[in-house]
Amino acid sequence: MLSYRHSFHAGNFADVLKHTVQSLIIEALKQKPKPFVYFDTHSAAGRYDLGDAKSEKTGEYKDGIGRLWGRDDIPALMQPYIDSVEAINPNGDLHYYPGSPLVAKYLMGNANRLELTELHPTDLQLLQQEFAGDRKVRIQKLDGYKGLKAGLPPAQRRALVLIDPPYELKSEHSDAIAGIKESHRRFATGIYSLWYPMVSRAQVERFCEKFSNQGIRNILRIELCVKEDSEGYGMTGSGMIVVNPPWKLVQQMEQLLPWLTKLLAQDSKAKFTLEWLVEE
Ligand SMILES: C[S@@+](CC[C@H](N)C(=O)[O-])C[C@H]1O[C@@H](n2cnc3c(N)ncnc32)[C@H](O)[C@@H]1O
Repeated sequence: MLSYRHSFHAGNFADVLKHTVQSLIIEALKQKPKPFVYFDTHSAAGRYDLGDAKSEKTGEYKDGIGRLWGRDDIPALMQPYIDSVEAINPNGDLHYYPGSPLVAKYLMGNANRLELTELHPTDLQLLQQEFAGDRKVRIQKLDGYKGLKAGLPPAQRRALVLIDPPYELKSEHSDAIAGIKESHRRFATGIYSLWYPMVSRAQVERFCEKFSNQGIRNILRIELCVKEDSEGYGMTGSGMIVVNPPWKLVQQMEQLLPWLTKLLAQDSKAKFTLEWLVEE
């Protein structure tokens, strides 16, 4: 079943958190003059037209990137992410939103490789068009976890893996844990970042508990909920689980999360969580 299309949701509050964390990790990897690889297991289309019918139908971006766009008090730590959005909106109007592969490409330049996998034929075609002729980007129509299995460990011995499933299927939480466990077995020093939605807090807590019990150490949980939990009635927030986060990420998120939570809040119960699921 592949009914999920990211174009309905591009630029929403969850993308803002995910792409901010992604950009901070890439910026940290760039601090060392050694190449690294970026794996995006669930890449989707790469670029979204916020004026198209799908975006307009939900209007989700308005409560995400729309709340940041044009502000003059953006924290310096968020600037790389904002720069990646500005790069595809050169006239200053917010018309396009970059997906995770485009955020990565903008920040990584031509020095590093991108390994992208996507299964949906329409999004795959858009992704191929986006990166046509770019020899540093490999795109495969492949299950993201199979792609990871084949690509790890990378020759460069440095990698960021972004795992961003649509969570359409019941098995996707356990698939993600199994995929990370297997990847970590192959390449223990990689950085693994997994996005998850907050729909049911009970389910998320069980998921985090299970993730903590896989024998993997150094796991950080970053979560931002824009409104009160609703236990099954829609997405009220989202989170990122990061294995082997760059050492400054905790301190950076401590700085950013209060500001971002206030900015993205949709009711008075908005809150964030920043905690080690398992310490080093
Ligand atoms: C949430 S979207 C990804 C958004 C993207 N990472 C971003 O931030 O711009 C999830 C995508 O995963 C794709 N997908 C679903 N199952 C997959 C699988 N097993 N392997 C690769 N892609 C898959 C879907 O077609 C969808 O485009």
